[in-house]
Amino acid sequence: MSVLAIDAGTTGVTALVVDERGSVTARGYQEFAQHFPQPGWVEHTPEEIWQATLEAVREVLRQVDASSLRAIGITNQRETVLLWDRETLGSPRRAIVWQDRRTADLCVRLRDAGHEPRVAELTGLRLDPYFSGTKLAWLAEHEPHTWALVEEGRYAIGTVDSYLIARMTRGTWHVTDVSNASRTLLFDLAAGDWSDELCGLFGVPRDALPDLVPNWGEVAVTDPRVFLDLALPICGLAGDQQSALFGQTCFEPGESKCTYGTGSFILTNTGGTVQRSDAGLLSTAAWRSPSGETTYALEGAIFVTGAAVQWLRDGLQIVGSAAETAAIAATVEDTEGVVFVPALTGLGAPDWDPLARGLIIGLTRGTTRAHVVRATLEAIAYEVRDVLETMPGAGAALRVDGGAAANDLLCQIQADQLGVDVVRPRQIETTAIGAAFLAGLGAGVWASTDDLRATWQEDRRFSPAADRARVDAGHARWRAAVERSKGWGAL
Ligand code: G3P
Repeated sequence: MSVLAIDAGTTGVTALVVDERGSVTARGYQEFAQHFPQPGWVEHTPEEIWQATLEAVREVLRQVDASSLRAIGITNQRETVLLWDRETLGSPRRAIVWQDRRTADLCVRLRDAGHEPRVAELTGLRLDPYFSGTKLAWLAEHEPHTWALVEEGRYAIGTVDSYLIARMTRGTWHVTDVSNASRTLLFDLAAGDWSDELCGLFGVPRDALPDLVPNWGEVAVTDPRVFLDLALPICGLAGDQQSALFGQTCFEPGESKCTYGTGSFILTNTGGTVQRSDAGLLSTAAWRSPSGETTYALEGAIFVTGAAVQWLRDGLQIVGSAAETAAIAATVEDTEGVVFVPALTGLGAPDWDPLARGLIIGLTRGTTRAHVVRATLEAIAYEVRDVLETMPGAGAALRVDGGAAANDLLCQIQADQLGVDVVRPRQIETTAIGAAFLAGLGAGVWASTDDLRATWQEDRRFSPAADRARVDAGHARWRAAVERSKGWGAL
């Protein structure tokens, strides 16, 4: 008995088949194109996300027998918004991606008009281009012809989970869950439903939004005519960071994880209460059970971590692959004072400045690519430290996952910076594992969260080893550089 997990991330789609022991028995992956139509803008073509999903699933179907699959779990990049025609399922325009900064001015206008306190109170979020609400308001303002069809009911609005479910079911279902809804600026966190007040503020017709369903239990069935001959129930869904929290089995209040992906996201389970932060953390929904109980989380969202390594590879072209960064960085003892602030799409938690821009400072005649590569790994660790220092009740150890968690040097630098153990599980594709767990729980492959906990296995624990004074001096230099990166985009 197995489940199929689909992780539709920012740069590609992963499909995993997970058996009842929690082992991965098949894997598929397909990248899709990133579009940058203007500086600070990031878009994806919906059809490409769909085709990448089909390709990743086709790949796993070449490795396992489809008859062993009981259910599907879906997890996705959050906040990214899409429109599609309810009849044809075609999209009238590209998706606006969570990293897109085009609504920075709109956020300032809304803030100046005094809306931020109420928006924060209702949503647990802040006015930042990151979230879906202002992206939709931008569409209404700049693409009125398209928006008219949203208002007429012809086009549906959704995040990537909703879109994929619509495609997989030939348009029969238009649904999402609380973990995705709570990232849109349109969801009332305490009430647990879409908010008419917020829909009014951002000009979004409530009828164009998906229905809310629990995070596990059967929510839809795929249509074999459009989904690779598979008629399977979709029994789990969640936004990728909440899915990773579930995959790390952080079921109890106070349990935290950090996922290193395109960005890095630290979430702490806060149980049944919405905990608020005045230090730049977001309050968000983690998941809702079929009986209607909601679990919440506090989140520190860092926009650029793995993407900084990607930029070293594709932008600067000073490394051939992400995997070789550990070896290159290890050729030098330290960065010799070089600091890289990878504010390539502004700064998220805890500094929140959409106008911050990337900065490399401290260069001398002796600087080599090894110093810059090491500064990149250090930057990731500093960013995570900045968030964890504001996270109340974060535990004595941090569970890490995501691609960069495979990097031993990064894990060690992270433990040194945090002064607590960093714990890596055997399975670091935890986002997809979370979706598999949700689907398996929903389909009865696992009976309870205790069964899921039993599948979690530690790979390695990294303990703080570096001299504290030196670590803190590096961090102080980092903070000084962060201050210098702020507001640069406005100059
Ligand atoms: O909030 C954005 C997040 O969901 C994107 O995650 O894994 O695609 O970097 P990832």
